[in-house]
Amino acid sequence: MPDVAFVNGTFVPLAEAKVSIEDRGFQFGDGIYEVIRTYKGRPFALEAHLDRLERSATALDLTQPYSRTEWTRHLLEGIRRAAYPEAKIYIQLSRGVAPRDHAYPAEGRPTVVMTVREFHPLDRSVQAAGVEAMTTEDIRWGRCDIKSVNLLANVLARQQAKQAKVFEAILVKAGLVTEGAVSNVMVVQGGAVMTAPEGPRILSGVTRAVVLELARNEGLPVQERFISQAELYGSDEVFLTGTTVEVLAVVRVDGKVIGDGRPGPITQRLAVGFTSRVG
Ligand code: PDD
Repeated sequence: MPDVAFVNGTFVPLAEAKVSIEDRGFQFGDGIYEVIRTYKGRPFALEAHLDRLERSATALDLTQPYSRTEWTRHLLEGIRRAAYPEAKIYIQLSRGVAPRDHAYPAEGRPTVVMTVREFHPLDRSVQAAGVEAMTTEDIRWGRCDIKSVNLLANVLARQQAKQAKVFEAILVKAGLVTEGAVSNVMVVQGGAVMTAPEGPRILSGVTRAVVLELARNEGLPVQERFISQAELYGSDEVFLTGTTVEVLAVVRVDGKVIGDGRPGPITQRLAVGFTSRVG
């Protein structure tokens, strides 16, 4: 089955897809993106992802090239062409091609790129055992709510995690946990689910919103507030949420055991709830 690419309105084989070296996405990281996955061939939470794409575009004064209906049509067509049992769809919208100048031209045309690749979910044994994480300083800019392709700080954090042979880097700013390099971070303390509040310090995850709604529906107290690094270590449970990780227990942070070192009961309940939600 083919990996599919879509560039400015045309589907092409991934290996043949090209953009200009003068694209501002390449030159400045001047662009935004979304990652959407399918379950049983259908994109999950598509409206929420397109809502966020729109919010990111508006925040950067980027012209949206497509209406909601057109985005949906192209996305579904990409999924159909790739024909993977489960796919990961990457959408990128950059400010387009222009001679290199930090300030941008008023009437630029955005570059649209989409790829559809096979998605390999995390191994069931990894989900069942939970993962290890490390903390690292959050050196990102002040608008982490924009899903910008400017991911250098996330790249460096993720590489640190890889070198430390742990799954995720948990970002800490001024002693407070913001989120993961590619996920949102939640903790459970005394039966309450806590996670950093929406705002410029975090990317408001689509999965985060679904999981918080599940928690509320289950009658669990939810607190959207920052927790400190010390509180993180002392939490009963820690877990990650995200399109690629779903609900994933963290059983060790910086070598310190969380709870009894196994995925906790609330994490498991939310993971089960999430699975039934996507199915
Ligand atoms: N990232 N926070 C950050 C920094 C992220 O990069 C992501 C997802 C999330 C979770 O968002 P969502 O639940 O909407 O996937 C939170 C994607 C998957 C990526 O960059 O590949």
